Amino acid sequence: MIWKRWARAESSDTETAVAAPVEATPAPASPAAASVATVDAMSTRPAFLESLWREPAPSARATPLPRFSASASDDVENEDGESNIARRRLALRDALGASQPVIGRDGFAGRHDALSQLIQAIEQQRVHVVIYGERGIGKTSLVHVFAETAREARYLVLYGSCGTEAEFSAMFRSFASRIPRLYHRSVLPNSPEAERGDNLDIMLGETFGPRELADLFAEVTGTRVIIILDEYDRVLDPGFRRDVAELIKNLSDRAARVQLVLTGVAQNLDELIGYAPSIRRNIVGLPMRPLNSGEVRELVGIGENAAELHYSEEAIGMITAMAGGSPYLVRLLAHHAGLTALEGRRSLVDESDGRIAVERVLTDWNASLPRRVQASLGREEAREQWPLLVASARAGSSADGFFGVEDVFTELGGSTPQAGIERDLKRFSNPHDLLELHDLGGELRFRFRYPGVSALLLMSAAMARITA
Ligand SMILES: Nc1ncnc2c1ncn2[C@@H]1O[C@H](COP(=O)(O)OP(=O)(O)OP(=O)(O)O)[C@@H](O)[C@H]1O
Ligand SMILES: [Mg+2]
Repeated sequence: MIWKRWARAESSDTETAVAAPVEATPAPASPAAASVATVDAMSTRPAFLESLWREPAPSARATPLPRFSASASDDVENEDGESNIARRRLALRDALGASQPVIGRDGFAGRHDALSQLIQAIEQQRVHVVIYGERGIGKTSLVHVFAETAREARYLVLYGSCGTEAEFSAMFRSFASRIPRLYHRSVLPNSPEAERGDNLDIMLGETFGPRELADLFAEVTGTRVIIILDEYDRVLDPGFRRDVAELIKNLSDRAARVQLVLTGVAQNLDELIGYAPSIRRNIVGLPMRPLNSGEVRELVGIGENAAELHYSEEAIGMITAMAGGSPYLVRLLAHHAGLTALEGRRSLVDESDGRIAVERVLTDWNASLPRRVQASLGREEAREQWPLLVASARAGSSADGFFGVEDVFTELGGSTPQAGIERDLKRFSNPHDLLELHDLGGELRFRFRYPGVSALLLMSAAMARITA
C-alpha cells in the first residue's frame, strides 16, 4: 500500500508510484492518484461523488429485458452498423479487459527493461530471480511473456501458482513430473527409460527435501529448466519458504541447470524471501515499477488498434493521471472510456469519455463494497468529513495500512488542530464503522477496515482535482 506515493507522484520525481488493484474482489485494492492534492482541492466535495450515493432509478416496466449485444457465432459477414459496433466492443474487451494477466506478447505493453533484466539474469548471470511489486502491477503478465520468450530459446519453462496451502514436496514433484527423464545425465537417448517417456518424478523418493531435489536437478543436462513460482507471497508456511531458500542455495552450489523465478506482492526483497543471507548472492531482485506515460500510451494503442478507436491526447492524459502507473487501471479506464465512445457511435475517445470511465470505476468500486460499508461512506457525516477521510487514506499508505493522528495532520497541511483530528477520526472508529482503532500502549493507530474504501477515496480525490 503505497498510495501516498501516488498522491505525491508529481511533487517528487524520485518517488515511484505503484498500483494495487484486484478485479472481481469484494473491495477494490487499487486507488489511483496523480497530482498533489491541496487541502483546498479537497475541501469541497466534487459534485460527481453524489452520483455514487444515489439510489438506482427504478427500472421502467416498458424497458425491454437486456439482450446480448453480439451473436456468439463469429460470423461478421454482411455486418451492419450495429454488429460493427458489437464487434468492436468485443475486440476492445479482448484487448483491454482487465481481469486476466496478459499471456502473450501481442497484448503486452512496455516493460522492455524488466524483460531484458530478467533474460539477462537468467542467461548471463545464471542466477535465480525474485520479481516483486504491488498487487496488479504486472508480475504475472511479465513472467508469462518471459516464459514465451524463453521457450523460443528452447528453455523448458514450468509455471506454477502458489496457494496458501503450498507444500514443498507436492509442488516440486509436480514440476519434476513435467521434466522428461531423457534430460537426466544417466539416461541415454535410445535407452528404454528414455523411450518409455518417463519424467524425473519417478526418480524421487517417497519423501524428499530440498537437498535430494537439488541432487536430482543437478543431473539435468541437454536443456535448461526455468521454474516459475508465481504468487509466492500467498504461501503461509514458513517451512515452504525455508525449503525454497535451501533449494536455491543447493542448486547454486551445484551449478545446476535449473533456475527459479519467484514473483510476489512485496515492497522489497526481504519481505518476500525473508532474511536469507546465504542466498543473497544467488538471486537477483527485480522490482516492478509503475508504467511510464509512454507505456500507458502503448497499452492504450493496443485497444485503439483492436477496436479501431482513437484516444485524444486529453483522454490519454487523464487515464495516465488517474491510473498512477497501474496497468490494471489503465486497462480498466481505457476500456470503459472506449466503450462509452462506441456507445455514442464515435471513434474518437475524448476527455469526457475518460471522465465517465473514472466515474463508472468509482461507482463499481463503491458497489463492490459491502452494503454496510457503502452506507457508512454515504452518510452525511462521512460526506462532510470527506477531506479528513481522503487525508487518512493517504496517511494509511504504509505497508500495513496503519496511521496516526499526526500523519493525518501532516496530510491535511499541518494547520488543523490535532485534537480535533483525533476526535473526528474516533467518530469513524465505532465497531463496524470505516476505521479500526488500536491503542498501542497509549499510541493511537487507525486503519481503514476495508482497503477498498481508501482506494475509492484516493481515486475520487484525484478525480476532484482533475475536474476542479
Ligand atoms: N505490460 C502489460 N501490458 C498490458 N497489460 C498489462 C501489463 N502488465 C499487466 N497488465 C494488465 O494488468 C492487470 C494486472 O496484471 P497481472 O495480473 O500481471 O499483475 P500481478 O502483479 O501479477 O497482479 P497480482 O499481484 O494480483 O498477482 C491485468 O489485467 C493485466 O492484463
Ligand atoms: Mg499475479
